[in-house]
Amino acid sequence: KGKFKGRDFITLNAFTAEEISYMVDVAMELKADRNAGIPHPVLQGKVLAMIFTKSSTRTRVAFEAGIYQLGGSGMFLSARDIQLGRGEPIQDTARVLSRMVDGIMIRTFSHQEVLDLAEHSSVPVINGLSDFLHPTQILADLLTIKETKGKIQGLKLTYIGDSNNVANSLLLGGSKMGMNIVIASPQGYQPVPEIMDLAWKNASLSRSTVQIVEDPVAAARGADILYTDVWASMGQEEQSEIRKKIFAPYQINDEVLGAAHPEAIVMHCLPAHRGEEITDKVIEGPQSVVFQEAENRLHAHKAIMALVM
Ligand code: CP
Ligand code: NVA
Repeated sequence: KGKFKGRDFITLNAFTAEEISYMVDVAMELKADRNAGIPHPVLQGKVLAMIFTKSSTRTRVAFEAGIYQLGGSGMFLSARDIQLGRGEPIQDTARVLSRMVDGIMIRTFSHQEVLDLAEHSSVPVINGLSDFLHPTQILADLLTIKETKGKIQGLKLTYIGDSNNVANSLLLGGSKMGMNIVIASPQGYQPVPEIMDLAWKNASLSRSTVQIVEDPVAAARGADILYTDVWASMGQEEQSEIRKKIFAPYQINDEVLGAAHPEAIVMHCLPAHRGEEITDKVIEGPQSVVFQEAENRLHAHKAIMALVM
């Protein structure tokens, strides 16, 4: 466990497959304890500062409830209210918060801001979503996959839609863990070379595959997991009308679900736009695990905090 303490959680690519597996196992244990009513105050007296420059339901509640359940406390810092929002540099914010708290979570736009925060912070920094990555989501997703499928390695995961922060982290985390990842996105919205290079490198080590295709039905064929996310992420609201046209064929609906393995599960990080990236019927249907997935943010975030703080 010693090798986690003090580390940042900014990208899953900074961890080995064994370490990611261990984090999933710790999350499972913490979940089982909570369900059995067994307290686990392993972070007694510790404080997590949580900086948000974007909205959040799941991430905020999972970190805040999670740190409390671990015996510590969380401090919600809206960027609008702290001096960061009035132009205080992130480097100074990092040095000040580090002297008072035991960990810092940040959700923001620029990934560089997360990196700058971490560089100047003496306590662990957790990436609660940037425009580039969403690693805490994917740790919870790996937990959900392990719970429902009994394993992670060797499964086929097809992501349909925009190659955004969630898709990027799925590519990194999934390829580390030996999943075969297929991304179905339209031209111009496919993963950037920086992510694909890392994912291909991971896949060659874990003996798995990573592919980008344009046809969503072909991509879904035989998939164990279908995954999607919104077509316009936070900060892209002004593009939402044009994106609705471009992404119209990239919807998880009955046809796409029918192409997948008959026991495939359907995942979405939420919040969802029903009728856009996924139909109401599929997200409410028996193969959807989206609320189990959302709950698992709590258990996964607790594992991250318990290990790095
Ligand atoms: N999936 C996710 O990160 O949800 P929130 O934006 O509600 O935190
Ligand atoms: N891709 C989405 C995920 C929200 C949890 C966004 O960045 O808005």
